[in-house]
Amino acid sequence: MRKKVVAGNWKMNKNLQEGIELAKEVNSKVKAAGTKEVTVIIGTPFIHLSEVNKIVDPTVVAVAAQNCAIEASGAYTGEISAAMVASTGSKYVILGHSERRSYYGETDEILVKKVQRALENNLEIIFCVGEVLAERESGKHFEVVKSQLENGLFNLPADQFAHVIVAYEPVWAIGTGKTATSAQAEEMHAFIRKTIAGKYNQQVADNTSILYGGSCNAKNADELFSQPDVDGGLIGGASLKAEDFSTIIVARAKH
Ligand code: PGA
Repeated sequence: MRKKVVAGNWKMNKNLQEGIELAKEVNSKVKAAGTKEVTVIIGTPFIHLSEVNKIVDPTVVAVAAQNCAIEASGAYTGEISAAMVASTGSKYVILGHSERRSYYGETDEILVKKVQRALENNLEIIFCVGEVLAERESGKHFEVVKSQLENGLFNLPADQFAHVIVAYEPVWAIGTGKTATSAQAEEMHAFIRKTIAGKYNQQVADNTSILYGGSCNAKNADELFSQPDVDGGLIGGASLKAEDFSTIIVARAKH
């Protein structure tokens, strides 16, 4: 069966020392909470990965990068490869976040290559999809999310798709304090699962964890996670406070 997952996305926050402190706090809070049934991941900036991996207990908290390069290695100044990410002990990489898509021009074609690089290096992928406000208002949100899945992921055979966690993040809810209602989240998650079943089969769809992201916090997590197709969360702002993040993890464990 699919995993319950709570993943933090720190984005470009916390210097190295602050990041180490936060990782220590998260690790000890999660350990104390004893929420073993929830896979907890923290997505830190690249430069934190190595240090944070030394601090956390890998049976309690796993570590993710927030991006990786398209190319495997070579003269690409400033880029970080999937192999480098893996060499820090990190097990996951977040790909296709809407901020990467909109501010750094990451297209479906780019993401297909990044997914390949991640898989070649045995990284598990948290792949983000989601519509912007105008797309939702014009009723195109299902179509948009379907095409992001088809163009970014559905070239994968089922055995590789098994290494993908999908994160549905409506762009209008990210960092805005405007969360999707649990009904809106469930409707889209069920649609995503149906789309995966249509491409692969029901078993593959049932084994895929689908996370909700977008202003998910310590107050609303419980309600969101009560939905049958919401398998967890990708948490931005609220993952920067260990207390809030662990409340969200406890909420996930409850259902
Ligand atoms: P937020 O970010 O929780 O701050 O809205 C979520 C995300 O972008 O992953």
